[in-house]
Amino acid sequence: MVLDDKNGCSMSKILVTGGAGYIGTHTLISLHEAGYEFIVYDNLCNSSQEALKRVEKIIGEDIEFIKGDTRDKKTLQKLFQNHDIGSVIHFAGLKAVGESVQKPLEYYDNNINGTLVLLEVMKEYNCKKILFSSSATVYGDPHATPITEDFPLNTTNPYGRTKLFIEEILRDLYVSDDEFEIVILRYFNPVGAHESGMIGEDPNGIPNNLMPFISQVAVGKREYLSIFGGDYDTHDGTGVRDYIHVVDLALAHVKALDYINSRAFNIQHSTFNIGTGEGYSVLDIVKAYKKASQKEIPYKIVKRRAGDIAKCFANPNLAKEILGWKATKTIEQMCLDSWRWQSDNPNGYKK
Ligand code: NAD
Ligand code: UFG
Repeated sequence: MVLDDKNGCSMSKILVTGGAGYIGTHTLISLHEAGYEFIVYDNLCNSSQEALKRVEKIIGEDIEFIKGDTRDKKTLQKLFQNHDIGSVIHFAGLKAVGESVQKPLEYYDNNINGTLVLLEVMKEYNCKKILFSSSATVYGDPHATPITEDFPLNTTNPYGRTKLFIEEILRDLYVSDDEFEIVILRYFNPVGAHESGMIGEDPNGIPNNLMPFISQVAVGKREYLSIFGGDYDTHDGTGVRDYIHVVDLALAHVKALDYINSRAFNIQHSTFNIGTGEGYSVLDIVKAYKKASQKEIPYKIVKRRAGDIAKCFANPNLAKEILGWKATKTIEQMCLDSWRWQSDNPNGYKK
């Protein structure tokens, strides 16, 4: 239980939209450990209730879950009417870059309309604290690395544009009503899993992202990894990213909530890069995963994937200075935890 001193009320809960998903489930555990109370709101379009059951086992408590869509105003209004919601962590959204190119209208509708409806209902019920899941994709192809929060914003695909538009909507909302307290977290590349091996990333079909793909190669579900491009201007020619352990990322949300609830909150410092500050190449990850899993990871270097960039890693100093948050988990831990989840649950949450 946390006192919400700015709203002058106690025991208010956090509404976690998209809380049944990969980052959401890990964040629920960190919120619980920090003493925050929450309600999960998710339409389960990319997750399952089994994930929430596993979180219940880990935390030893039941979770309040409401199945619903962020675009469903009536259900959200009812939720705010029936519960004292002090703040919102807004994870809900579609997130596959390639799919967003094929289905832009679905992405704009789900991500942008979903956020607009949520914000309208928050305003109606005078709930004015929100943490939003943005992405390093808003920096597009950065002119330099490491990336700081003041880099130009420029994204190249519909998914990225939904993140950028939502950021702009939130900034406009603040201009119109300065009681809003908004934190934007720009995640770099979340990977890994909870150390219990009970929850983790469970992609539908063929994984788009590197770590889940490698995991499926290691466990024998896929023959080899295709490495997209071996001729980038990086230390070994393969793409470099800032991989961050999902448990470190989850903790960043707790720190951001503490910040939003504190008198130190300042809208001038409310957008944060959430990364480690270290860049690893695809081949570095293959090597680390091989060591963690003790499995061969066969790979072939193929042509570059459209829209990919050479290098992307964060300068995370602002989050350290303002939120007091810093990533602590190494690439070895990311691979070990990812492997534990994959090998204990070769079919993800499916029985
Ligand atoms: P995820 O797909 O596992 O979780 C998203 C959850 O939102 C799912 O449980 C899904 O069912 C739910 N959802 C989607 N649309 C909804 C709607 N309209 N109403 C209610 N629920 C809805 O994804 P994740 O990896 O946990 O990502 C969480 C957030 O972080 C997303 O907004 C994503 O764009 C952002 N993000 C993710 C990454 C990444 O690589 N995983 C990187 C940067 C940003
Ligand atoms: N890669 C491969 N083979 C694969 C998958 C990926 O070689 O099968 C390479 C990519 O080319 C890239 C690196 O591995 O160099 C990482 O690729 P991911 O697809 O895992 O991640 P991205 O950096 O492309 O994008 C991810 C999320 C986006 C998010 C972005 C920044 O998918 O949604 O991080 O947060 F916006």
